[in-house]
Amino acid sequence: MCPPEYFAVQYEINPWMHTGTPVDAELAVKQWTGLREALSQLGHTVHTVDPHPGLPDMVYAANSAFTVDGVVYGARFRYPQRGPEAAVYRAWYEAAGWKYVTPAHTNEGEGDFAYLPGAHGGIVLAGYGFRTDEAAHAEAQEALGRPVVPLRLVDPRFYHLDTALTVLDDTTVAYFPDAFSAASRRVLRQLFPDAILADAADAEAFGLNAISDGRHVVLNAEASGMASKLAAAGYVPVPVELGELKKGGGSAKCCVAELRA
Ligand code: ARG
Repeated sequence: MCPPEYFAVQYEINPWMHTGTPVDAELAVKQWTGLREALSQLGHTVHTVDPHPGLPDMVYAANSAFTVDGVVYGARFRYPQRGPEAAVYRAWYEAAGWKYVTPAHTNEGEGDFAYLPGAHGGIVLAGYGFRTDEAAHAEAQEALGRPVVPLRLVDPRFYHLDTALTVLDDTTVAYFPDAFSAASRRVLRQLFPDAILADAADAEAFGLNAISDGRHVVLNAEASGMASKLAAAGYVPVPVELGELKKGGGSAKCCVAELRA
């Protein structure tokens, strides 16, 4: 995770961002700290990366890379405003001793890649359509040695896979069907007949931008409808206030790059 000390909405690269919107960086840090503490209380180890002035979106650490079994498939950002983040994060991964694979293709890390360790021995779901190039899916498959399933995103509000789909445990996902093309919806139905389906209100409240340990699901406090659906399915929702970070088009999951050793 990376604290939002320099968080601001200085450019508009997704429909949630409006440069006129005032951002309270202090409140953002406070909310981010609440998220970090919620994760620590659930037993996760949280490492933090130093924020850089001039890189206001660094707080969305999920976009920094995608890690499976100790291999870090690095990011290459779509927009130049975020481009320099890749090298800053790369330096962190390498200093921490991770095996880092530098990508040739545009991809925004865990923003567009998700991992299900228990499905068919471990499969990767990969979004495309807005940020990540399809060529990066094949590159990730070669880097990680796991089958990669491409899913086309079609709604600009849900421009990253992690705004439209969340992994709840080793084999289960929740997703908002309308965020995907008809063919990708069919693929999702085939792979996950028992998925939890979210509606537009759940997705708009960033209820799918969640972090699960298989039981506890940390998500934006605004997503109360999603929280009820998760509770009805036997999960324990852990709501966290993240209103400031939503102004940049992200929430709980966006703030976390998972380290799968
Ligand atoms: N402002 C950032 C962008 O548009 C938000 C990234 C959100 N991250 C995520 N994993 N969905 O790139």
